[in-house]
Amino acid sequence: MAVAVRREHWHSRFAFVMAAVGSAVGLGNVWRFPYVCYKNGGGAFLIPYFVALFTAGIPLMVLEFSFGHWARGSPPTAFRRIGRKWEWFGWWTVLIPFGVASYYVVVMSWCFSYMIYSLDLRWDLDADVFFRSFLGDTGDPLVVGGVSVPVLLGLAVVWFFVFLILYRGVGRIGRVVAVTVPLPTLLLFLLTVRGLTLPGALEGVGYYLTPDFSELLDVGVWLSAFAQVFFSLSLAQGIMITYASYLRRDSDVTNNAFIISLADAGTSFLAGFTVFSVVGYLAVSQGVGVDGLGIAGPELTFITYPTAISLLPFAAVFFGVVFYVALLTFGIDSAFSMIEPMVAGVNSRWGVSKFWATGLVCLAGFLCSIFFSAGSGLYWLELVDHFVADFGLVLIGLFECLLLGWFFGASRLRKHANSVSDVLIGRWWDVLIRFVVPVVLAVLLVFSVYENICSPYLGYPWWVLLLGGVMPCLVLFLLSFVFARIGRGRYGVCSF
Ligand code: ALA
Repeated sequence: MAVAVRREHWHSRFAFVMAAVGSAVGLGNVWRFPYVCYKNGGGAFLIPYFVALFTAGIPLMVLEFSFGHWARGSPPTAFRRIGRKWEWFGWWTVLIPFGVASYYVVVMSWCFSYMIYSLDLRWDLDADVFFRSFLGDTGDPLVVGGVSVPVLLGLAVVWFFVFLILYRGVGRIGRVVAVTVPLPTLLLFLLTVRGLTLPGALEGVGYYLTPDFSELLDVGVWLSAFAQVFFSLSLAQGIMITYASYLRRDSDVTNNAFIISLADAGTSFLAGFTVFSVVGYLAVSQGVGVDGLGIAGPELTFITYPTAISLLPFAAVFFGVVFYVALLTFGIDSAFSMIEPMVAGVNSRWGVSKFWATGLVCLAGFLCSIFFSAGSGLYWLELVDHFVADFGLVLIGLFECLLLGWFFGASRLRKHANSVSDVLIGRWWDVLIRFVVPVVLAVLLVFSVYENICSPYLGYPWWVLLLGGVMPCLVLFLLSFVFARIGRGRYGVCSF
């Protein structure tokens, strides 16, 4: 029995652009980009990052917008439209951001607590010790430990907001992003000005901008750059396909793709100045070099930044609160965008109302997130982020290029995009989607797997990597086939 699901639409082009920018610009720019950049040699990372942006990021953005606009359905529906046997792939693309959201929301929960802790600079004496006691850190991924109550409460709050925003559909999303996109951007400018006027800021900025060409020989740096571009632009996650599916028939595709990609990359570049200026200030205050701070993980924003805030000569509380409010407002529109494809999939697949589909998906997400709020959560978060975001997104990007570029036809999608867009794209785009991007991604994947086998990630034992990294990827992959099979025959028909 077919299930009729009414198709929603953005109220305006502005609402769509803001929602897509809101999805793209998030913790990926302010939390993930700086630490991935630091981990991969600072300035050395910028070259692969911009190469990845122009060769793969923007072309894939055009691809996903064109496909979403053409197919006008959630990713499972969209991929099913090009062949029933590809529906599983659509589910895979929505399960991956669901997996990412389960730990992304945990970082938002940390931000929520830190926004409150900023009011009295509670970490004052030692931000490192404070952060670890806040998490109930067991110091060992194999010792699970108890659930951190503040993290759990923060999770409940963030998931509740995600639910509230999503269940009323794209109309409400449009209204929320009108605030959650400009507000944190303004705050980021404010923080950057403050950061750049601190003593030592130039040390940090120098580290951020000075390329170390020897790092370019490391294939891991390139994989991280491509993965960061996909993560940050919300690509290979079904998000942009879903958002573009809510566009009206005559809406622009390519111009929007360029605007959104460049806005996202610009914000990351700016956030680099914001964070590294403060890192430089901290290094100079502590009399060490920037690369001697030893802050290569997700805790960069929760140890280094608070330490620097405490050292500010005046208005420390103000800048602390502003920083975490900026992170929260940047993060919320990315968080709900990662859940929306799954909700849209459940809604159209089984005709479950938007209210119940959103409720079920958010509840499932909340339950998964609890795992990361345990004492060993930080370690598992970093492992899952490395495997699901780095390998998972790059693999999906590769499949997407092969499926849409070869099976469906890149030129068909290009003609569709050109028929509605202000900026026309040429055959060069077909070449990128069919040859350049898949070859580069495949080479990176093969070399990175080899590199990970030769030197296990962060020196963890094999079985830990299999459990915390390979298994989540495999589970999400297998679940996509399960979802594609359940309830076969009850398929949503969107009204156009
Ligand atoms: N694109 C989102 C971000 O960068 C996931 O945070």
